[in-house]
Amino acid sequence: MPSSPYYITTPIYYVNDKPHIGHCYTTTVADAAARFARLLGRDTFFLTGTDEHGQKVEKSAAAKGVTPQQLADENAVHFQAAMKLIGSSHNDFIRTTQARHAKQVQAAIQKLIASGDIYLGTFEGWYDEGQEEYVTENAAREKNYTAFNGKPLVKAKEQNYYFKLSKWQPALEKFFDANPEFVRPAARFNEVRGRMKEGLQDVPVSRTNFSWGIPIPDAPGHVTYVWIDALLNYATAVGVIDPRIAREREIPAERAKYWPAEVHAIGKEILWFHAVIWPALLMALSLSTPRCVYAHSFWISEGKKMSKTLGNFIDLPLIRAYIDRYGLDALRWYLLTQGPLRETDADFSYAKFVEVYNADLANGIGNCASRVGNMIEKYFGGRLPAVDTAHTSSTGTDWTTYIVDQTTTFDFRALSGNAFQQASKEHAAFRLDEALMQGSALAGQIDLFINHTRPFSIAKEMEKTPEHAERLRKQLAHILMLCAEGVRVASLFLFPAMPLKMAQLWRTWNCSPLIDPANVDSGFRAPLSELAMFGGPHGLKAGHAIAKGEPLFMRAKAEDPAPTATA
Ligand code: MSP
Repeated sequence: MPSSPYYITTPIYYVNDKPHIGHCYTTTVADAAARFARLLGRDTFFLTGTDEHGQKVEKSAAAKGVTPQQLADENAVHFQAAMKLIGSSHNDFIRTTQARHAKQVQAAIQKLIASGDIYLGTFEGWYDEGQEEYVTENAAREKNYTAFNGKPLVKAKEQNYYFKLSKWQPALEKFFDANPEFVRPAARFNEVRGRMKEGLQDVPVSRTNFSWGIPIPDAPGHVTYVWIDALLNYATAVGVIDPRIAREREIPAERAKYWPAEVHAIGKEILWFHAVIWPALLMALSLSTPRCVYAHSFWISEGKKMSKTLGNFIDLPLIRAYIDRYGLDALRWYLLTQGPLRETDADFSYAKFVEVYNADLANGIGNCASRVGNMIEKYFGGRLPAVDTAHTSSTGTDWTTYIVDQTTTFDFRALSGNAFQQASKEHAAFRLDEALMQGSALAGQIDLFINHTRPFSIAKEMEKTPEHAERLRKQLAHILMLCAEGVRVASLFLFPAMPLKMAQLWRTWNCSPLIDPANVDSGFRAPLSELAMFGGPHGLKAGHAIAKGEPLFMRAKAEDPAPTATA
């Protein structure tokens, strides 16, 4: 199967903040998408990192009495620890203070100055100091001249280098019209497309009022505007700005194959930069544009916007407390299936967490897998039985279909095939929750199948009526084999959210598709199209030993107090 490259990124996070649920969320979303892509057999490169320049970092460092580089070093470590905590499988972590990045940024700026896309000029406008961005007159008026953080916007004037964004307006409009899926979800596309109609103004790309940034070549006193520096990370990490510098700085030449990104996963507040300024910059640099910018919405906390004053930030210690109690996979599942992936914000609530945990995990896939494992242990001594469909009167179907009665048939091969088709489609559209749901839905079908066929009753009947034991045993074998193979297939779709638990299940069932069953990041022995074939070459076989194993998820008690950061 051809393995087309799949490049996915997260925003690079500001080092003057501490990691919290927002950062963890985007990274988890991108991670699940990356894991899914690898499972599909795509040659995947997943990038995250930290955004380390700018006035905010310079100011925070000064307030702490350290150098900006020291502050960046210290906080980059916190972000790296956060990414590790939530199980991120990124292939690289870029820091904008690294020479491999900074040198390429300078090369990009030099190129743009030479082409006339960057020029020296004077600008006056409304400035949002917190966000370090200028706001158009219209947007400023709409927001009543207040900044994102609630403080007043300030009138600022500077002589700076500018990027000729205005020049690219026609090209961008054409690009948007030709690529209606460039920005997703659709409502965000319309938002950006609408705002573009107001007209694009040139963007300052240098700053002179502080020095913590990448110097503009041959322009003493000018440092690169942090947003231009930051956006370029997606290109510098794979070495496409300047291959020579990249090679000198140990970025492997073959990384260029990942360009352009399949998806830049971001939060909605930074969409304009990614959807408009970024593609225009790339056009000016003669580099191809990303296929999609995916902007999710925001987490709020127990019904309220997260804020430092309210003290309701879901910060890393609280996230750790959830992980300690429920496991990493449960947290990831909650984030991925209940999070603000689409147009609306989502509430992080303990009550909801417990509800979802019990419904989807403890009573869902967890219960399904242990039910099946237990029955195989109990009725077949932990070894998968051979299937002989002779117990059913001529059905004309192979063992992957089970006819319960005249109205109810379970065709597991078709169910699995559909789940695969659907999951691939949802993944391509970045509806990751829907992709994962294919696994849950399949587990649900297995539960339903068990409820219809009642294997435990068949086992009892076998004891009571020895004369039918032979036939009943075949029936039981058939049912349980379908269940076991169904659980195996379902687990594949759940892996991108729950790599640890699924790897654990695969180890106890001795059926891991991982190259190294002990290492969730070791890659797969085959693409999902083959792995997910029910009864296919990777399917469970008769004689195969299945251990009962530990339950995957213990039930959670809603009456337990919510985890706290100190618990
Ligand atoms: N450094 C810039 C991004 C540059 S990318 C070229 C930046 N950094 S940030 O540290 O502020 O991170 C912003 C990102 O964090 C958002 O885009 C989003 O991915 C995530 N979140 C921050 N708060 C969030 C929520 N409350 N909810 C969900 N995600 C949010 O902006």
